[in-house]
Amino acid sequence: MEGVLSYLRASDYLEELAGKIALVKSDFNVPLISQGGAPPRVADPFRILQASPFIRELISAGVIPLLATHMGRPKGYDPSQTLDPIVEPLSQAIDRRIEIIRFAPESGAFASKQFNPDYLKGLFKEGTIPLLDNIRFHTDETKNREGLAKALTSVADASIQNSFGTAHRKEASSNRIHEYIPGLAGSLLVDEIEAHRKIKRPGTPYIVIVGGDKVEDSLTLMRAIFRAEKTTHWSNMFNPELNLQIGEQLVDYVLVGGHLMYAFVYAQLTMLKEEDLKGLPGEIKKDLRGLREVRLKGFDSAAAGGYLCNAEEINLAQGLLRLYNEFQFRDPDILKGRRLIVPVDYAIKRGDALLKSVQLHELVDDDEIVDIGDKTKDLYASVIGKAKTIVWNGPLGVDDEKYVEGTRRVIAAIDANKDAVKEIGGGSTNFMTSACEAENNRKFDLGFRSTGGGSTLSEIAYDSPVTISLIMSSRRLLEGGYGPDYETLRKAAIRRHLR
Ligand code: 3PG
Repeated sequence: MEGVLSYLRASDYLEELAGKIALVKSDFNVPLISQGGAPPRVADPFRILQASPFIRELISAGVIPLLATHMGRPKGYDPSQTLDPIVEPLSQAIDRRIEIIRFAPESGAFASKQFNPDYLKGLFKEGTIPLLDNIRFHTDETKNREGLAKALTSVADASIQNSFGTAHRKEASSNRIHEYIPGLAGSLLVDEIEAHRKIKRPGTPYIVIVGGDKVEDSLTLMRAIFRAEKTTHWSNMFNPELNLQIGEQLVDYVLVGGHLMYAFVYAQLTMLKEEDLKGLPGEIKKDLRGLREVRLKGFDSAAAGGYLCNAEEINLAQGLLRLYNEFQFRDPDILKGRRLIVPVDYAIKRGDALLKSVQLHELVDDDEIVDIGDKTKDLYASVIGKAKTIVWNGPLGVDDEKYVEGTRRVIAAIDANKDAVKEIGGGSTNFMTSACEAENNRKFDLGFRSTGGGSTLSEIAYDSPVTISLIMSSRRLLEGGYGPDYETLRKAAIRRHLR
């Protein structure tokens, strides 16, 4: 059976779209580096390169792409987060000049001189492709509000969704916009959603490794993964051949690393009760009691410019531990009856020393957790080795570029497992993987490489809001709901559905 988005593949509608302006929602939120005060530059263009064949296809067919992406998480206009760093790599990838359509902070909208159809068409004629500056400068974007959606539809005739990285978000340029103009799916989005179908009907054991620095997002998505049974009816509706049963467990184990480790360490410490200590050796008991008050480096350190975890995140982590972990430190058989696996030891910085295997009860004030510990590396590698489905999102080290041993070990273990369906996803995950491949001078066998991190996790449990929005939009198009201007596109959609 054809995947649900294949009916909406924009490549099948190029004739109808030629000469029209299509908003092309992309994810060019790429990792940046800046050295010695020089302007930031792109550290890994993976997301740009993955998206560019489709953009070139649109251009050759005479469709005018108005490219749109976010970068980082600005709350309104922030001159340090404009899209200037991506202009050159994007321009190279699509072999066209790029002009940024600037945001005018004084009016809270895109500058009207550039943001109009005649100007955009003029640019295209000259061989220049317009790129809207960071779409999150507009405060309506993340709130999915109509102001921005309407503004975009005053210049664009259709929307093409090609950002898998934000497929799990409900934003104005990917959801609300379809109230006004029809949406189609770009090739990258279709291919990724199709590739992700494999993990909706996985082989077991099914493991998910979650690291990275998006702590609250990851904790929330973990809840959805563990409770996937509650959400599978959507998957059945859109992918009936999956035939997922309500109550069916999908993910067997979630392994934790990255910034999340802090939330789980504090969650364990704050939940610790006298009865949990029963049966533990005296020394460990004493240390664990003392630990309730420990203040690790980085905790609540917003003032010092750091960000590791906050009270809300600790709360979420506690909930997950209560349901899926049961204080694993009390039990040598860690995998028995548990689905959430947190590190059994940590790599920490204590003063100038780097200690590679410090257990929970051995932590002291001002310790800085920087990576998973040596025993955890062995444990995770052995779980990965036995898995039949593996999904990995987010580096295991806290400062991913500096502390890479945990990540390297996970990469090696995934590479070595030749029996599993494998998938990795996310900006830093792909960046770290390429760096590791460059060091080793060979490509690793890590399965499908997705541009999305959070969206890969989300796809385990849900059909993405963008998928749902596109399906609703296609129904509306087929029913003639977008009005007479879209009659040609409607007829083409009918033909496509009947094929
Ligand atoms: C990502 O880097 O995971 C995507 O670009 C999504 O970014 P967001 O989490 O800020 O929405």
